Amino acid sequence: MNSYKIAAIPGDGIGKEVIAAGVEVLHALAARDGSFRLDVETFDWGSDYYKAHGVMMPENGRETLKGFDAIYFGAVGAPDVPDHVTLWGLRLAICQPFDQYANVRPTRILPGIEGPLRNVAARDLDWVIVRENSEGEYAGQGGRSHRGLPEEVATEVSIFTRAGVTRIMRYAFRLAQSRPRKLLTVVTKSNAQRHGMVMWDEIAAEVARDFPDVTWDKMLVDAMTMRMTLKPQSLDTIVATNLHADILSDLAAALAGSLGIAPTANLNPERNFPSMFEPIHGSAFDITGKGIANPVGTFWTATMMLEHLGEKPAAERLMRAIERATADPSLHTPDLGGQATTRQVTDAVIAAIHGDNA
Ligand code: IPM
Ligand code: MG
Repeated sequence: MNSYKIAAIPGDGIGKEVIAAGVEVLHALAARDGSFRLDVETFDWGSDYYKAHGVMMPENGRETLKGFDAIYFGAVGAPDVPDHVTLWGLRLAICQPFDQYANVRPTRILPGIEGPLRNVAARDLDWVIVRENSEGEYAGQGGRSHRGLPEEVATEVSIFTRAGVTRIMRYAFRLAQSRPRKLLTVVTKSNAQRHGMVMWDEIAAEVARDFPDVTWDKMLVDAMTMRMTLKPQSLDTIVATNLHADILSDLAAALAGSLGIAPTANLNPERNFPSMFEPIHGSAFDITGKGIANPVGTFWTATMMLEHLGEKPAAERLMRAIERATADPSLHTPDLGGQATTRQVTDAVIAAIHGDNA
């Protein structure tokens, strides 16, 4: 029997609530299938850990994580710790050294969910955003000089490397090729950003030659927001830089009905390091502790983790269970306009897993 070691890092705020729900669902799935085992270890890293120890995770944290098959991550961010500390101390401290360069964000309007766009049916919006996750605007290059003086300067330098851009383009073209429409949109801003983004466009064209069956086009990021809103059916697979895709993926999540639903995989496709799976939403301190966080994003994230581990039937079973739950408006949490609790949605998904005989 296949057995997988999962490191759960709930992190902050509702991260703790949704990861607890996700782990329950994963155990139910393993019990239902009987063909694989999950060995889940939970780590209390995050802002509370930071307040007690001065660091977001222990020094040997990454060494510890190397022994796991996958990381199941909640959210980071606390009202009383600066956001750049929490982000760089935990999420980016894992993503970047583990070379999880492909951040993959599927977006669909799930059954029973109403998106905000008029005249857009569920079938009109079925996208996967591929976010470059190792460099670009999040490279961490820059600095500040003459602090506090009128002549203070700060630089925030984007880094684009031929190796980094080529590998994310290849990943995106391959993914587009594997989807029925074989359609890729390369997001850029090469009209204004005339160095890195121009190289980005050139490399896209080079890589495209190896994928003659993929139809692709190029879209400036500002115009892309309009196309996503006005012609969602014209898009399928999308590739964009770290920051552009960060912004577009929030838009995508909103257009699909709620940020509470959207999943992410941070993949190291070569499997030299464990990959990390997390809902897109943040720690949401405004609703923490109320038991009303939407666990669907975390469940959908679990399907991506199972797929990465090679447990496709279990991933599909979980997706069917999620869709049964979203189809029932009485199981909608407040972010979807309903009154359901995290507990109720979790119980319904577990019941659907056990009742699913497909
Ligand atoms: C995301 C988030 C993060 C990001 C935040 C928490 C820094 O918005 O995963 O999209 O910008 O990468
Ligand atoms: Mg974001």
